[in-house]
Amino acid sequence: MTNSNVRHFLTLMDLSSAELKSILSRAVELKTAIATGDVIAPLSRKTLAMIFTKSSTRTRVSFDTGMRQLGGGSIFLSPNDSQLGRGEPIEDSARVISRMVDAVMIRTDEHQQVELFAEYSAVPVINGLTDDFHPCQLLADLLTFAELRGEISGAKVAWVGDGNNMCHSWMNAAELCGFTLNIATPKDYQPSASMISARSASIMITSDPKEAAADADLVVTDTWASMGQEDEKAKRVSDFNGFCVDDAMMALAHDDALFMHCLPAYRGMEVSASVIDGPQSIVWQEAENRLHGQKALLEFLLA
Ligand code: CP
Ligand code: NVA
Repeated sequence: MTNSNVRHFLTLMDLSSAELKSILSRAVELKTAIATGDVIAPLSRKTLAMIFTKSSTRTRVSFDTGMRQLGGGSIFLSPNDSQLGRGEPIEDSARVISRMVDAVMIRTDEHQQVELFAEYSAVPVINGLTDDFHPCQLLADLLTFAELRGEISGAKVAWVGDGNNMCHSWMNAAELCGFTLNIATPKDYQPSASMISARSASIMITSDPKEAAADADLVVTDTWASMGQEDEKAKRVSDFNGFCVDDAMMALAHDDALFMHCLPAYRGMEVSASVIDGPQSIVWQEAENRLHGQKALLEFLLA
């Protein structure tokens, strides 16, 4: 029961390059409107269901606030206090929830669960993070780079750390936006083989973080132990030795290189306090832009 007419946002590749560009420029307009006090509320009486089976600060606050600012509202659903945690099939939940709301945002483990929900949903489904992708974060990251440096096509971006959901989404962004992504991970923590082969034209893979950071315009990292990997933390701290983005690593990048992190960050692990709290870090602007980027996405999918 696929609703082929419904647009979903499960990965960045659900957008064309032109659509992504137009969402990002609309995000700038929506951000400006907040600053000037202009009310833009095209989602009056629209409701977003937000399903979280994993923790969140930024994603929850930005989607909830975004819907309110656009004139609509949101409902928070967790497995603990809904039937989602008691074994109701995803197909049934999708058919029921999507008859009552106008869009659904889901944060969960397996990407296939979001795909299955989307297959049975009558309304747009937005991926608010799975083990494989975090496309909403890329809306914010690309918006932030555009605000501070302009066009990202042709830029050199370094990913230093785990080949995780954020890394996969940066790989998609490299393909859609036409920049080079240098990826440095320890050997056992590379992105998935299928992503490496699909994005081979826009990426360079190494196990040497210095090689990745050299001459970069932007250095990006993320936690070494994502949600669900808490038990592996001690092993990962040891395996990622040498991968901390510190001043020495930033010194290899361009003098005006920027530093990004989706947050939450662990100072002294994947990034030094001097870098994340230093002048090249743009993480707070990046975090705020979750709101503006997702408002533009919601308007694109719903208005
Ligand atoms: N970056 C991000 O998605 O943060 P949360 O886990 O707090 O939502
Ligand atoms: N890679 C991290 C991102 C958190 C926003 C995780 O999945 O936990």
